Amino acid sequence: MNAMGLYWYPEYKRRNYFSMTQEKIQQHRALVAMPRYINEITSIGVVGLGYVGLPLAILAASRGFRVVGFDIDDVKVAQLARREAHFLSSEEAALFKHTPTLSVTANERDFERLDAYIICVPTPVHENHLPDLRPLESACAIVGPHIKHGTLVVIESTVSPGVCEEVALPILERSSGRSRDDFHFAHCPERINPGDKDWNVHTISRVIGARTPHDLERASKLYENLIDAEIVQMGSIKEAEAVKMVENAFRDVNIAFVNELAISFDRAGIDLVNVIRGASTKPFGFVPFYPGCGVGGHCIPVDPYYLIRYGKRNGFEHRFLIAARRVNSRMPLYAVSVLEEALKEKKKKLSGAVVAILGLAYKRDVPDVRESPAAVIHDALLRKGVAVRTFDPYVPGTTAKRLEDALSGVDAALVATDHTQFCSLTPQYFESHGVDVVVDGRNCLDKEAFMNSRILYRGIGRNA
Ligand SMILES: NC(=O)c1ccc[n+]([C@@H]2O[C@H](COP(=O)([O-])OP(=O)(O)OC[C@H]3O[C@@H](n4cnc5c(N)ncnc54)[C@H](O)[C@@H]3O)[C@@H](O)[C@H]2O)c1
Repeated sequence: MNAMGLYWYPEYKRRNYFSMTQEKIQQHRALVAMPRYINEITSIGVVGLGYVGLPLAILAASRGFRVVGFDIDDVKVAQLARREAHFLSSEEAALFKHTPTLSVTANERDFERLDAYIICVPTPVHENHLPDLRPLESACAIVGPHIKHGTLVVIESTVSPGVCEEVALPILERSSGRSRDDFHFAHCPERINPGDKDWNVHTISRVIGARTPHDLERASKLYENLIDAEIVQMGSIKEAEAVKMVENAFRDVNIAFVNELAISFDRAGIDLVNVIRGASTKPFGFVPFYPGCGVGGHCIPVDPYYLIRYGKRNGFEHRFLIAARRVNSRMPLYAVSVLEEALKEKKKKLSGAVVAILGLAYKRDVPDVRESPAAVIHDALLRKGVAVRTFDPYVPGTTAKRLEDALSGVDAALVATDHTQFCSLTPQYFESHGVDVVVDGRNCLDKEAFMNSRILYRGIGRNA
């Protein structure tokens, strides 16, 4: 606040005028010297305390906000109240223990009188791949009654263009009994990458889209106080929604491209991983993506379906995205076929073989099994009459509690997740447990070392 009682919005450096129309830029500049008519945000409600919501709630509390985290899962809430959460990074877990301004609840009544509400609930798809917006709808209906004049509501969940304004906002209006002009509303899609040591909830830049310049400023100001990274203001909510869709579709499509190449190059006898390493030496115009036994998690195999559906509603068929989904969802079965061929070379049949799946999580060093390719591999092997063992150091409920128990006496091991523990495994280690075949579904093992051993090694796109 300056001496004249005007609130001066901070530096221009965080503003991205690139994506704003001239009209929006003028509106924004007018805002810069505008008297501040709203109070500072000091308290935040976070709806949905999962991979996205909990780190955000912890961050906000560590930055001095009073935070109330709400989740419909009362078992989870009871664990979080004891400060137990298996999916946090070690830094987040340490912070979580010392955040007295963060309370958690499954009771809607504890969720009132907060300045801002941030919605971080799942946005999955139904079995037929159509968007399932029920968690988002119910979260909006829970927040609505607590909205008062000037409350800020932010949707962080990943959605396709139009969902925030056509689905979430009307529910907020109905359940609050207020017009959309009476509260603030924005979309700030989360880009967190669980398990990533460098990029986390406060170091990843954010895009924000809002209905009005006031809403945009209100939301931007909140995130400026929360994170240590750039905040990029988009021209509309739809643009912000589309950013997240495009980011994840970009990954899905590029991974599908290398996965398709992997199958083709396996037939041709070319090591695709070496090819990608070579292509990566080009200093421009090439981004390396690597093949594997499939993509998983709550984002990459899910979000493209939101965009596909969105295109369809507008009379457009996203053939490229549909093809990418098809290629990537077949990769687990390709890994099974690689295993079958390798066993054949060892004069063994897949049916009746004993196989250890190493890794059930969808990616390295996390316990998240949502949409994991390992589950598809597991079920396909069972259908083919294989005796399956499973081991994952992060996932409870595997058939073996220790790696050595999983491997002892098996015919083959299939590495489905590149957990750090697995990446350093040597051929000698597998040999000592009597393993004949290793299928490296993540290309994370030292291929050269295996080629010089008696183990038959197969990767994905590495079978030169
Ligand atoms: N996991 C990721 O890596 C990631 C990264 C970026 C964005 N996202 C997006 O963020 C959103 C949340 O994903 P997540 O991975 O944190 O999901 P999650 O399943 O880990 O957590 C969501 C939580 O919301 C709770 N919940 C469900 N419905 C609710 C309701 N109506 N009210 C209150 N709580 C409710 C669930 O019990 C759960 O604890 C999704 O839209 C996802 O696409 C996820």
